[in-house]
Order: sequence, then C-alpha cells, then structure tokens
Amino acid sequence: MQQLANKRILLGISGGIAAYKSAELVRILTKAGAEVRVVMTQGALEFITPLTLQALSGNPVHHTLLDEEAEAGMGHIELARWADVILIAPATADLIARLAAGMGDELLTTLVLASKAPVFLAPAMNQQMWAAPTTQANLQTLADLKGDDFGLFGPDAGVQACGDVGPGRMLEPVDIAALLAKRFQAGVLTGKKVVITAGPTREALDPVRYISNHSSGKMGYALAQAALDAGAQVTLISGPVRIAAPDRVTLVNTVSAQDMLEASMACMGECDLFIASAAVADYRPADVAKHKIKKAGDDIQITLTKNPDIVATVANHEQRPTTVIGFAAETNDVDGYARGKLASKRLDMIVANDVSRSDIGFNSDDNAVTLYSRDGHQDFERMSKSLLATKLIQAFAERLSNTQLLQTEPDNGQ
Ligand code: C5P
Repeated sequence: MQQLANKRILLGISGGIAAYKSAELVRILTKAGAEVRVVMTQGALEFITPLTLQALSGNPVHHTLLDEEAEAGMGHIELARWADVILIAPATADLIARLAAGMGDELLTTLVLASKAPVFLAPAMNQQMWAAPTTQANLQTLADLKGDDFGLFGPDAGVQACGDVGPGRMLEPVDIAALLAKRFQAGVLTGKKVVITAGPTREALDPVRYISNHSSGKMGYALAQAALDAGAQVTLISGPVRIAAPDRVTLVNTVSAQDMLEASMACMGECDLFIASAAVADYRPADVAKHKIKKAGDDIQITLTKNPDIVATVANHEQRPTTVIGFAAETNDVDGYARGKLASKRLDMIVANDVSRSDIGFNSDDNAVTLYSRDGHQDFERMSKSLLATKLIQAFAERLSNTQLLQTEPDNGQ
C-alpha cells in the first residue's frame, strides 16, 4: 500500500449499513500515508457520525453543499480539484443511480461531477438491488462514460445484514485499500522517507543583523519536488528563501545552522535518504549582541565560532539514514575538494558544482554538476535545476536501493 503515501483521497460515504466499516477504511488509508477528506451523504449521517470520521482522518468532514462555513474552509470546487481520486465506500444503489444520471443534488454527487479525478465505487446493497437491471445499467453507463477513470471494487458475496445471501456485501476495508493502491503507479522512491536541507542559514550578529549567503534554495526545492514525484514522503528543512515549497512536502522552516541541525536530528530513525543541499554557514558570531551593535571607530572585531556540520553529524549518527548525500559548491579544484568531503563527512555521494561560473549555480535556474561516489563519478551537463533534480533523484534512489538490497541479503557463508 506504499503507493498511497501522499495521495489525496476524497472518500465518499453514502447511506448503507456498511458505512460503519468506512471508519476502518479511513484509518487504513491514513496509516498508509494518504491524506483523506471525507464527504458524507445525508443518508450516511444516519449510520455514522462525522465526528468519528473527522477524528480518524484529521480533517473536517464535509456533508452539506450550501454550507457557508465549510465553503469558507475548502469550497466544493476546491475540494473537487484537490482530490487525486474519489473513492465511494459504501456506494448504495441510490447513489449509483444519481451518479449515472449526472445529478448534483447534494455535495458528493456534485463533487463527482466537478472533479477530473477517477472515481472508484465499493458497492454495498441487498443482493436483489445489486442484481436489479437498473443498477447494472447504471453501472454500465458510468463505465461507458468514464472509461479508465471509473472502477468497481467488489462487491463481495455472502450473508448480508438483511439475512439474504448473495453478491452485494461491501469488500473489507483492507481489500478496498489494497485495490486502490494498485491504481497508483509506484515510483523509484515509493515508500521511502526523504529529508532534504535547502537554502541558506542566517547567523545572528545582533537583533537586526546576520551573516548569510546567496543560496536561493532552488536546487533543494527542485529535489524535493522530484523526490515527491518519485513517490517519496519528503521533509524539507529550509533556511529563509523566497520560493514556495512544493505542495505535499512537510516543510520545516529554520533560520540558523543550529536550528537546521535540530530539525535534522528530529528526523533520525525516520529517514532513508538524507540530502544536504543547504548552504550552511560554516561559522556564526561567537556572541549574539543583545542590543543593536552601535557604530564605534573605523574597525570592529567580530569573533566567529564554528557551526556544527549537519550532514557529517547525520552521517555519523547511530540511526544513520541508509544513504546520505552532500553538495559541494567550489570555485577551484572541484574534483579534489569534492572527493575530500565525500570521505571526511562519510557521505555516500556528493554533488559538486563550480560556483565560479556565473551562468550556473547559486541564484541561477540552471546547474551543471558532477556526482561523485567512492566508485567513480558522473557528469551532468548544464540543464534546468528541475530536470537535473529528476536525474539526481534517480541516481540517489538507485544507490539507496542497492544498499538496502545488500543490507537485507542473507549471508550465504553461514
Ligand atoms: O564543507 P562544505 O560546507 O563545503 O560542505 C558542503 C556540504 O556539507 C553540503 O552538503 C552542506 O549542506 C553540508 N554542510 C552541513 N553543515 C555545515 C556545513 C556544510 O550540512 N555546517
């Protein structure tokens, strides 16, 4: 079910006795890393309370089309656009009929009309209602109209709540979730947790001044997007930047190197791949003046003290992520310095770029880099940071998967 991580699932619940199982479905989907928003029909409200589903999904439950308060939070069109997929479980015969007729008589039916997301139904009804020609014709209509964007999960056959025996029982929540997961393609980082540091750090001199650098954060943010696209759960630990974080990352805003270190340490034990793309200040003022430093004389002395090395601390941590990647921005002897840092910081790979070139690097949208590992190196010619990020993520994922394979291989010598 790893494919469900980061996915946005709009779970529709219509009014059938199987609605009590939807609570378990929400729990399974959220546990698999999906974000779930529940939409209930008026009928469903008779069977299960929104409060239960709100507690399990961690999101407000929607059930009224013309509710000013709900519309102010997330309007129905926004909700329709938000969904990667609409799953309706249980889907009653009545709801199926309304969907087939294209009705927008309440919130759930309106959302199905207003959304481009694929729709999957887990039917639940009496076996006679399931077999009814109208129900079957309605399902055929939906299949014809929506093509690949429509699917049925179940129903199961067996003893029904009404005492009948036959097809019409809703599938078990775990089976519904597994069928839904199969509809999403797995990426090279599906099921993996990735932590990325990005941007500059700011080291305070006094309440109004700081030491920093020109890092824009663009490379790290592009890596975060590429890792998300590859299926990972991404935590982006960012210094102050002017760009927006990709949707769906867990963003941790930091200011100083010390903050960034603390945020990184909080991820240990929960990280497979750590990518240190931040331009961390090597030094910080030894003392931060309590009040604004006043003009005095022609020269002033500031004593700087060394900052902790975040990526080296991560690489030497007892809960070290499987793969740790560093970056090296150099102005000369790029190869020598990069290889030196690879070894001294105990990294698996290091991405080196020549920041003496004005056409690439720090504030540019393009970059050209060399990726070093202990076994060799690979050149990436100048390209957009987003394309480069995709290629680098591919290389990091390969390294991660090879290492994890080696770690799990049985020792044949024993
Ligand atoms: O030693 P240098 O700063 O050139 O190393 C660059 C690499 O080390 C980058 O990956 C950067 O994010 C990381 N780094 C760090 N903490 C520091 C300094 C650098 O994580 N204090």
